[in-house]
Amino acid sequence: RQPEVRTVAGAEEKVKGNGRGQRGEYLTTATGTRLYETDHSLTAGERGPTLLQDHHLREKITHFDHERIPERVVHARGAAAHGTFLANGAAENICKASLFASGARTPVFVRFSTVLGSRGSADTVRDTRGFATKFYTDEGVFDLVGNNIPVFFIQDGIKFPDIIHAAKPHPDREIPQAQSAHDTFWDFVSLHTEATAHTLWNMSDRGIPRSYRMMEGFGIHTFRLVNADGETNLVKFHWKPAAGVHSLVWEEAQIAGGVDPDFHRRDLADAIEAGAYPSWDLGVQVFPDTEDEMFEGIDLLDPTKIVPEELAPVQVIGTMTLDANPTNFFAETEQVAFHPGHLVPGVDITNDRLLQARLFSYLDTQITRLGGPNFDQIPINRPHAPVNDMLRDGFHQDGVHTGVAPYHPNSLDGGCPFMASADSAAYIEVPQEVSGRKVRQAPASFDDHFSQARLFYRSLSPVEQEHVAQAYTFELGKCYEENIKTRNLGILANIDAGLVSIVAGGLGLPVPEPTEPLSDPELSPALSQVGAEWPVD
Ligand code: HEM
Repeated sequence: RQPEVRTVAGAEEKVKGNGRGQRGEYLTTATGTRLYETDHSLTAGERGPTLLQDHHLREKITHFDHERIPERVVHARGAAAHGTFLANGAAENICKASLFASGARTPVFVRFSTVLGSRGSADTVRDTRGFATKFYTDEGVFDLVGNNIPVFFIQDGIKFPDIIHAAKPHPDREIPQAQSAHDTFWDFVSLHTEATAHTLWNMSDRGIPRSYRMMEGFGIHTFRLVNADGETNLVKFHWKPAAGVHSLVWEEAQIAGGVDPDFHRRDLADAIEAGAYPSWDLGVQVFPDTEDEMFEGIDLLDPTKIVPEELAPVQVIGTMTLDANPTNFFAETEQVAFHPGHLVPGVDITNDRLLQARLFSYLDTQITRLGGPNFDQIPINRPHAPVNDMLRDGFHQDGVHTGVAPYHPNSLDGGCPFMASADSAAYIEVPQEVSGRKVRQAPASFDDHFSQARLFYRSLSPVEQEHVAQAYTFELGKCYEENIKTRNLGILANIDAGLVSIVAGGLGLPVPEPTEPLSDPELSPALSQVGAEWPVD
């Protein structure tokens, strides 16, 4: 939002932002005492030592010493903007959430990010991009924490530390920031073949977007929506940019990264400042909520799989427009805390085990990153709905709670807060049956690691396929270990004969034979048809 500079009623004082630390016209200490001098320490004599009693010096330096907070363990590099989501009502029959009611306008804050680089890294690297949206609804906060690629590397959140350890810079030299020259990344994805489809998307032009304004966004997981009658549907969320999907070519990305490492950040802020507000349609693919949670042979709980839009078209349910830059990067972009478990009545999760791990991870990390359990009180994270919780105390507590009985029920505080009933917008989990033996294993329906990579590769135009081959050749060419290159060629052999022969030729290595049939006999007839219609323009 634009800086709020206003005159306090009845006084001549200026208030900036929310007033904290910037009220009044005189420079003061943190406790409000006016200062006459801030450039010279208090010393014993003009040329003598500095005195310990100089509180202003110590306060100023101590605060500065603690200015930095830890960067996010992933998605550290980001840029964000404010805007509004306008619902068109098309989701009213499948979801009771007020934010999807026809004509509802909901304020949003969106943070785009790279995944692997540190806070100060370049924008145009080859990487997945985060696309996280906070909807400040009148029923509480709803976060849609997605990426610009519709599939994920792994099927189970227990592997998340492993893929990130493999993809972050080598522990010894701390280079590089993305996949290039990165033996550990290529080691991981060749040993965990479920990563094949996501890696192929990364090596395609989708891995180097032209602008945050020109990216699709995907919720990836399947969610469960509930309507006013309690009926449920399974859905996947999609953001479709009004500006279309555009990428850089590799050489452009290299030059932009060198000349202007802030290329995407600048582009987003400049566009908004110039009034060229970026916008996206939000859409859903809708699937019946069947007991097996499958659709056309695709396991809807497997986040390494998409459902082709030919089989389940994306239905637009609203439009988001970003029209204001943050006023303060730290206060907003850095301190915003997204969480896939921030849900509102009408939106429920599924048993996708990647999502289930995320539900634990985000709150846990934010307690460290944002210094304790009260970060929901930071202005950018505050809900636009009344909050009446029984959470108390803790580091950075900003609330001054009254009463003596923060528990429910109680008979002391002149009546407890009411418990909401289903018809007064309470969040009620869908009462799903759960049963089974405790096991540590993936279902058989997670076994197919290659057919979707093939579908994606076949959907690309010849020039896009050429870019994929060039990207694999370049990136694998940077690996030091030959066995890692060879193992990755083995994977490419399972995707496409032409692709593996170009990359193997470029690396000067023999072309391996596929270990999996290149046709997809296990696919449903409808899904096989999708492949037959491609490549598209
Ligand atoms: C941060 C997306 C899987 C842990 C993020 C962010 C995005 C994102 C967009 C940045 C949020 C921001 O801008 O502040 C995704 C998607 C996933 C996925 C789309 C899979 C579909 C996981 C998994 C885990 C995980 C499986 C852990 C088990 C984290 C953590 C952060 C993060 C710890 C940092 C949060 C913070 O410091 O505020 N993720 N992620 N993510 N993600 Fe994920």
